Amino acid sequence: MAENNTDTKSSNQMWGGRFASGPDAIMEEINASIGFDKKLFAQDIRGSIAHATMLAHQGIISAEDKDKIVHGLNTILSEIESGNFEFSRQLEDIHMNVEARLATLIGPAAGRLHTARSRNDQVALDFRLWVKEELQKTERMLTGLIAAFLDRAEEHAESVMPGFTHLQTAQPVTFGHHCMAYVEMFGRDRSRVRHAIEHLDESPIGAAALAGTGYPIDRHMTARALGFREPTRNSIDTVSDRDFAIEFLSIAAIAGMHLSRLAEEIVIWSTPQFGFVRLSDAFSTGSSIMPQKKNPDAAELVRAKTGRINGSLVALLTIMKGLPLAYSKDMQEDKEQVFDAAESLELAIAAMTGMVRDMTVNTARMKAAAGSGYSTATDLADWLVREAGLPFRDAHHVTGRAVALAESKGCDLAELPLSELQAIHSDITDKVYDVLTVEASVASRKSFGGTAPSEVRRQIAFWRARN
Ligand code: ARG
Repeated sequence: MAENNTDTKSSNQMWGGRFASGPDAIMEEINASIGFDKKLFAQDIRGSIAHATMLAHQGIISAEDKDKIVHGLNTILSEIESGNFEFSRQLEDIHMNVEARLATLIGPAAGRLHTARSRNDQVALDFRLWVKEELQKTERMLTGLIAAFLDRAEEHAESVMPGFTHLQTAQPVTFGHHCMAYVEMFGRDRSRVRHAIEHLDESPIGAAALAGTGYPIDRHMTARALGFREPTRNSIDTVSDRDFAIEFLSIAAIAGMHLSRLAEEIVIWSTPQFGFVRLSDAFSTGSSIMPQKKNPDAAELVRAKTGRINGSLVALLTIMKGLPLAYSKDMQEDKEQVFDAAESLELAIAAMTGMVRDMTVNTARMKAAAGSGYSTATDLADWLVREAGLPFRDAHHVTGRAVALAESKGCDLAELPLSELQAIHSDITDKVYDVLTVEASVASRKSFGGTAPSEVRRQIAFWRARN
């Protein structure tokens, strides 16, 4: 690579004062972030406009220079938005690409923009603004997913399905109740998002390189102009902190885990063997060789996206661990992880919202499955406790014998003749048949947060009012 390191290359126009020659090609390649941080152009320009406005307000630059700078930055914004901006890798990153273009557009006044700031507080600002907007978008998307589940829960507050533990039939529940379990999960994700927005709502600009600045800047003014609650309180921490990005990734990882569990259930439920749901054509694909197939590809991809998001979280935690204060270039590697995870999370939430809204629920299949596997055995035991005064452990034992008997006869509990039940325990009467149906089982579970339709409707009302 030595031949690349020739003196014919000019040194960097933004920071090359003390350099005799330009960077080696490999240096340029490893150093440049413009390939991905150009995504931050709008935040970078907004931040620069707020900074220049503050500098003029404080008498640090003239009003004329500020006007030129603001006008030039707005021109650059429309150039980038309309695709008429040439990004240069030699200029490393979005900050220097914008500033170099500003110099071409307005001349020497451009050089005053970087007074009292550094790329260290600039990048911290741009990235925070981006993550904040992404969190706000995530909040809206989660609200949409929650709304989809609330609608399905309302529609199916009475639809009985098997509830599982160990993926073995446990007790009957309603599909509405199952949907509401996801409302709780995504509701927690949404409050994590809201907390994260509160945590990061402090403006980094004005921390400068790491020590603050001797210029009489007003950090409260820039914080207000950029929609932050207040400025950050320690300039060293400000330029070395990427907690806000890691928090975004951890929230994304937890939400991704929830989405993946939902995806897995949809994969299982949509198999012909279960047949609980049928995915719409819009959210499934066919097989090129097996004409009968309808594959839950979107659910499978959501399940997989979770792996990418987890990877990004571990990557950034690992990048940050062991970095001495304050800024180190390692931190430039934060952005791709967050951008990739954000894209995966958005897609996963959107795909799941669509699937939940579109899928057809086969209530007959669910109900038939709910009745199999002796799912009302607990109801029989509870009846023995309530009506025959047995201690629960004895009732459990008696019920176990009834299940064994039904199993040997190949029938359901409700199909056992009374005489045979009485042979197991003499206190059993024909009233017992009232609790052996799945509907009766579900309706009886009225404890707060339980699966009874009345209780499910109470929780739906709570979440509808909550938003
Ligand atoms: N592109 C850099 C990043 O993303 C900007 C900050 C550069 N600061 C520095 N001191 N080299 O982190």
